[in-house]
Amino acid sequence: MHYDVPSGERGVSIEMNAKTTAEDSEPAIQFQNVTYRLDGIVRRGIVNDIRFSVASGQTLVLLGRSGSGKTTLLKLINRLLVPTAGQVIVRGRPTTDWDPIRLRRGIGYVIQDAGLFPHFTVAQNIALVPSLEKWDAARTAARVSELLSLVGLEPAQYRSRRPHELSGGQRQRVGVARALAVDPPILLMDEPFGALDPVTRAELQREFSALARRLGKTIVFVTHDLREALLLASRIILLENGRIIADASPQEFPRIDHPEVQAFTACLTPLPGALA
Ligand SMILES: Nc1ncnc2c1ncn2[C@@H]1O[C@H](COP(=O)(O)OP(=O)(O)O)[C@@H](O)[C@H]1O
Ligand SMILES: [Mg+2]
Repeated sequence: MHYDVPSGERGVSIEMNAKTTAEDSEPAIQFQNVTYRLDGIVRRGIVNDIRFSVASGQTLVLLGRSGSGKTTLLKLINRLLVPTAGQVIVRGRPTTDWDPIRLRRGIGYVIQDAGLFPHFTVAQNIALVPSLEKWDAARTAARVSELLSLVGLEPAQYRSRRPHELSGGQRQRVGVARALAVDPPILLMDEPFGALDPVTRAELQREFSALARRLGKTIVFVTHDLREALLLASRIILLENGRIIADASPQEFPRIDHPEVQAFTACLTPLPGALA
């Protein structure tokens, strides 16, 4: 795959290598008839008989109401959970065959409140995985600066701050930078912009959409917001009560004849009296 990065754009360099052929030819992620059930809850799984695959470089949005099973699917990808039945194949291997640490080094994870360590600086938070990988200080510092620029934060101004000295939007930017630190081929994002005010949220959605296109990562993005899904997705999967009920392109999705799809599209209709 070739990434067309315009010269002069901020900082995509040596650490953002294009992934090549072997990975591009097979899906990055495959769910093969996956059910996840909690012990003792016999009747019905939290997710049931889930089948889908995510092509390398695609942004798949998992859409659904609260409690529909979105977070559970993400955790099955990075092996925070293992299937009760079926298999999740990541980069050609079932998650249960992967060493969990190696698996997770290849998967960036961004969650709603960013999950930054409060007593660490921004730079230390971003350098978490590079330091586990024993990068030297110079390489780590260069990478931290590169990533801060990439997510729109001036390195000199922000690298030494602590999370409480940032706005919510800035914390999410740092969360994205941290997830990208060792250039993982896969990014999982669990309602990353959900807690932000609407203006900041729209700003981060636009920027992230552009960034995602530039980086060519395989992204699984969870949201309950159809607008966000339509903006970011190459494909949308709608979940209801732990089952897939729609799997479509953003163009096709709003036209699907299903009550749950229509419940979501109804939210897009402008309110009476809204600006023309
Ligand atoms: N550890 C758990 N114990 C009991 N119920 C759980 C647990 N984890 C998830 N659930 C239930 O499973 C369903 C799906 O959860 P989740 O995947 O977090 O949904 P979503 O992310 O779409 O809001 C919810 O009804 C939730 O309450
Ligand atoms: Mg969730």
